[in-house]
Amino acid sequence: MDTFSKSEKIKRRNFIRNSVIVATGASILPQAFSGCKEKGEVMPDFIPEGVNGFLEGVASFDPSQESIVLWTRYTKATNEVDQPEIFLDLASDNDFKNLVVSETVEVDGDSDDTINVDISNLNSNTKYFYRFRNEKTKVSSMIGQTKTLPAPGEATEINLAVVSCANYETGYFNMYESIADSEADLVVHLGDYIYESSVSNDVTSSLGREHKPPYELLSLDDYRTRYRQYRKDTQLQKVHQLKPFICVWDDHEFADDAYKDGAGNHQDYEGPFETRKAIAMQVWHEYLPARVVDKSIIYRSFEIGGFLNLIMLDTRIVGREKQLNYKDYITADALDKDAFEADWQNPDRTILGSKQRQWLKNQFASSNSKWQVLGNQVLMGKYLIPAELIPISTQISSISNVSSELLEEYNSLISELLSIKSRIASGDPTVTPAERLRVETVYPSKLDYWDGYPVERETILSAALGKKLISVAGSSHNAWHMKLTDKSGNEIGTEFATTSITSNGIESIVGDNPIITNLVEQTNVALIDDLQYMDAARRGYLMVTFSDAQVKSDWRFAKTIVAKTTDAISGNIAIEK
Ligand SMILES: [Fe+2]
Repeated sequence: MDTFSKSEKIKRRNFIRNSVIVATGASILPQAFSGCKEKGEVMPDFIPEGVNGFLEGVASFDPSQESIVLWTRYTKATNEVDQPEIFLDLASDNDFKNLVVSETVEVDGDSDDTINVDISNLNSNTKYFYRFRNEKTKVSSMIGQTKTLPAPGEATEINLAVVSCANYETGYFNMYESIADSEADLVVHLGDYIYESSVSNDVTSSLGREHKPPYELLSLDDYRTRYRQYRKDTQLQKVHQLKPFICVWDDHEFADDAYKDGAGNHQDYEGPFETRKAIAMQVWHEYLPARVVDKSIIYRSFEIGGFLNLIMLDTRIVGREKQLNYKDYITADALDKDAFEADWQNPDRTILGSKQRQWLKNQFASSNSKWQVLGNQVLMGKYLIPAELIPISTQISSISNVSSELLEEYNSLISELLSIKSRIASGDPTVTPAERLRVETVYPSKLDYWDGYPVERETILSAALGKKLISVAGSSHNAWHMKLTDKSGNEIGTEFATTSITSNGIESIVGDNPIITNLVEQTNVALIDDLQYMDAARRGYLMVTFSDAQVKSDWRFAKTIVAKTTDAISGNIAIEK
C-alpha cells in the first residue's frame, strides 16, 4: 500500500485514547450528550435553524490492518455562524462505552464541507463503531460500522462484494442495500459510482430519480451536486454505513469514454479536458477518499489475511491512450486489417501507463499472497469475435433503427459461424481451411477493454506467470466469467466480472425478451473461446469469497430495480483452486 501522508484537509486535534479513558474513569462525552433531556433540565442555549446536520450519512474507506478512513459531510444550520465544532467518536461497541478515539475534526470548506479522517493505531480484524456529532447543535450522525483487515492467520476467508456502474436514474440502489445486509467484509467499487450525464429521456419518471443538476456535469459545483444527490440515497447510505469501501474510478466519474487526454463525451466547446478532469478528480476524493499521496495516482494494493493481495488499478485515466475505433478502419464494406493491426498491435500502446505497469509487475514480484487479485475497471479477458462480424456489428451499433434485412444478414452470418465452430468441436474432417480461418481470425468486440491493448495485456499476463491471478472487472453492465489466457493459449488466470448495480446492459440494445437474451448468451459462449458464462440481462453484484484453498464467485442478481426490494438470487457460481 502506498505510504500515507496526511493531506491538508485531514486535520486532527484533541486525540484521546481509550487507555486514558480507562485510567481516569472519566467520560469524555460532553455532558449534553450523556443522556436525554429530562424534566427540569436546562434547555440548550443554541437551537439550530433550517436543514442541518450529517445529511449524506457516514462512510469508511481503505481499511488496512491498523487504519481506516472515516467520512461524513456537515451542513451548517442557517444560524450557525462560526466554524462548526465536530467530534468524532470511535469505539469497539455500539454504545460507545469502550471509546478508542474521541477527537475534534474539521469541516473542510474547501472540500464541499466534507470530513475525511484517517484513523490509525487500530487493532487488526476488528469491528469498530463510529459517529460524528456537533456539540453546539446537539446533532449526531447515524452510527457507522467498519472493520479493519485481518493480519495473516486471523481469518480463514474474506468476502468481497464487487460492484460497479450505479446510474441513479435507471433504478433503485436495491443491490447496494442487499450488500449492506450480506456477509460482505468489504465492498470493492470498480467505478461509475456516479454518471455525469444529463437527465435521460428513458428515465422511469415514476421513480422520481432524475439527475441533479438536470444537465451534463462540467463545473465544480455540478460534480459536487451530483455526488450529494447520490449520497442522499438511503440505500447507498446504508451500505456505506455498514461496510468499508475500496474504490477506483471509471470513465463516468469524469465523462463517458474518458482516457488520459480526453473523453468521448467531452467536446471542445466544453473547455479544456484537463480542467474538467482536475475538477472531477478533486470531487471524487472529497466523496470517495483513498489513502494516496498523489491524488492523480489511485492505483494501490491491500494485503488481506496473508492469502490475498487486492491490487486496485486505474485502467481509465492515469495512462490510457485513446481507444481505437473501427469506424476509422472500415472502408466501403470491409475492414482495413493491415491498418487496424498496425495500430492495435503497436507494442507501445498502453492502458496502464509505464509507471503503473512497472508498479504492477513489482506487486506480483513482491507479494507472497496466494491470490493476486486485480480490481479492474474493464474486462481483461479476450472478448474476441470472428473478424468478419466487425463491419456489420459496427454498423448495427451505430444506428438506432436496425432494418430487418440487416438483422437477417447478421443472424445468417452468426448461424454459419456457429455451425463451423460446432463442426470443429466435434472433429468433423470436412471442415475446410477457409472455414477454419473464418472462426479463428478474431478481433475485439470492444476496443475500450483490455482487448484494445493486447501487447500490454500479454506483458502483464507474463509477469503473473506462476501466480494465482484473478481479475474482478466492471464497466460492461453485464456478468461474465472468462479464462485469462496468453497468446499461446496458456491459462494464466480467471476473470469474474460483475454486472451493474442499475445501469443498462446488452438487453437495452437487443431487447429484454428472455428468449433473445438467452440466445445472445449462448451465442457468445459458443463463439468466444475464453468465455465460460455470461448474463446479458440482469442487474446485481458479485460476491467473491477467498480462502487459502479456493476462491468462489457468486453472481447475485436483483429481482427488480424499479421497485424497492433487496431480494437477490444467485445466477451462477464458479470455483477456482
Ligand atoms: Fe458504467
